[in-house]
Amino acid sequence: MNDRIFGKPVITQEAMRKRVKALGLQISQDYRGKNLLLIGVLKGAFAFFSDLCPAISLPLQVDFLKVARHRDKRRKDGGSISISSNVSLDLKNYEVLVVEDIVDSGYTLAFLREAMMAQDPKSLRFCTLLDKPERRKVEITADYVGFVIPNQFVVGYGLDYKDRYRNLPYIATLDNITDAY
Ligand code: IMP
Ligand code: MG
Repeated sequence: MNDRIFGKPVITQEAMRKRVKALGLQISQDYRGKNLLLIGVLKGAFAFFSDLCPAISLPLQVDFLKVARHRDKRRKDGGSISISSNVSLDLKNYEVLVVEDIVDSGYTLAFLREAMMAQDPKSLRFCTLLDKPERRKVEITADYVGFVIPNQFVVGYGLDYKDRYRNLPYIATLDNITDAY
């Protein structure tokens, strides 16, 4: 396999499959008897989301939202964040679990927490495939974490570099990336 095109795998498909199964089991136990709504954050969470859903053995519902980040290096928080496409269901009726690809600075998660609390869900939790605590700028943690990874830029299984590599079936690092964030 050509490393320059496909990157170096850091989390294999097999490791991912096992971890997603375990997360699904945990979530199934925690939400038994509850009206669970799983919300996927597009685009990054699509692969994790579609594997996590069938790993949860509850009659859940799904919805999606899309976040837009407007980068601005002059701002301390790196730019503004908004919801460019919101969920269609009324969150008031649901125990909401938001599914993210990765928590990096934490600004997206912090923003989503506030924006979604304003929609008054019965409860609100976050599940992320990857967590990069070394990069955190705001103190915030996800309730369910797939893998904690070191401070390195990764792609694959939904995660992108310039909107590519989302289709890699594993998580990988790329060589020669200097402008990832
Ligand atoms: P945060 O607001 O800094 O926590 O950023 C989260 C978002 O940044 C994620 O949803 C990703 O879109 C992107 N991101 C952060 N780190 C990586 C990475 O290593 N690879 C790909 N995307 C990343
Ligand atoms: Mg991205």
